[in-house]
Amino acid sequence: MTFRRILIATSFIALGCRHGNVPVPAFSPATTSKATSARGESIVRNAAVCGQCHAADPQRDVDGPLSGGMEFSDWRIGTARAANLTSDVETGLGSWSDAEIVRALRNGERKDGRLLAPVMPYEWLHGMSDDDALAVARYLKSLPPVRHEVRQSPNFVFKLGKLFLGPKPAASIAAPLRGVTAQYGGYLAQNVGLCGECHTPRTGLRSEPDRSRLFAGMAHPPKDFPAKPPNLTPDPDTGIGRWSEADFLQTLRTGTKLTGVQLHAFMPWRQIRRMSDDDLRAIYLYLRTLPPIRNDGAPAAQKR
Ligand code: HEC
Ligand code: HEC
Repeated sequence: MTFRRILIATSFIALGCRHGNVPVPAFSPATTSKATSARGESIVRNAAVCGQCHAADPQRDVDGPLSGGMEFSDWRIGTARAANLTSDVETGLGSWSDAEIVRALRNGERKDGRLLAPVMPYEWLHGMSDDDALAVARYLKSLPPVRHEVRQSPNFVFKLGKLFLGPKPAASIAAPLRGVTAQYGGYLAQNVGLCGECHTPRTGLRSEPDRSRLFAGMAHPPKDFPAKPPNLTPDPDTGIGRWSEADFLQTLRTGTKLTGVQLHAFMPWRQIRRMSDDDLRAIYLYLRTLPPIRNDGAPAAQKR
């Protein structure tokens, strides 16, 4: 090989190796003892509701086996399919270490280092604490294996995009103290539950969350959203500014808007309502601290 050829070859390898650069996290013994599969289960099933995408049949059974398959097509990615999260060794996470699962959740990298399509909400899960992310990994590893091979079909744009898209940087994160505080509520609403993923408008070519309008609702949701996520900021007319804590809890517990209309099942209230009163009260407190934003295109329901 000539020198030139070697140079070209190595620069291609260097480009190809932009992935794999986030080391898998190392956990302290304190984290290891706090992370329990029960905590992981409540995050996966009640708060983040991973089954909305990863269940075998998300339309009919969000709480069913997480063997994957649901398709997401977009010109930026091609077709991504929700992965099999059960402990099957060949087609699921059976051969993954806990730390590799944590890296997938928070940094968006597969076991082999390749970038996951951003349909997988690592943009939000990036802020999940070490304890909680490890708890999620432990719960997933405890799931009975289901053999179901899921293939990914990234298109040219996504393969090319990976030259400028990258994984989220490594971080070691401690959760705010658990309690009925706005701080803990903010953590739940953005990094554990995926409220922010649906209730925040997206912007730009890469369709990223518009953090200057957190929780302002989506006037123009992506085409695969069957319902419009309303404005949860404290704006009195188009947000939840006039809602009491009781209104908020009642809406989520009963799945009924203040106007009496039932919430669409795409808003996973049947799962979210299993969160504790304290957790939901913390989320309410947090939402009250947001700047009120008027959004006539995605108003929350007001009392009659
Ligand atoms: C909006 C849909 C969506 C939600 C919600 C979601 N995921 Fe994913 N997830 C995906 C898709 C799609 C992929 C595959 C992306 C790819 O391979 O490019 C994926 C991939 C993964 C992977 C990588 C597995 C592999 O074999 O490559 C893990 C681990 C994972 N998800 C765990 C979770 C967990 C745990 C939750 C809940 C906290 C969750 N996901 C929530 C859509 C979602
Ligand atoms: C998968 C997307 C999605 C996720 C995740 C999600 N929501 Fe929603 N939410 C929606 C949609 C869509 C609606 C409107 C449903 C309708 O119009 O029937 C909604 C409605 C609501 C309402 C009712 C507002 C009204 O007008 O009555 C509240 C309150 C709410 N969500 C809070 C939350 C909280 C808190 C979380 C996180 C714990 C959350 N949502 C997670 C999509 C989502």
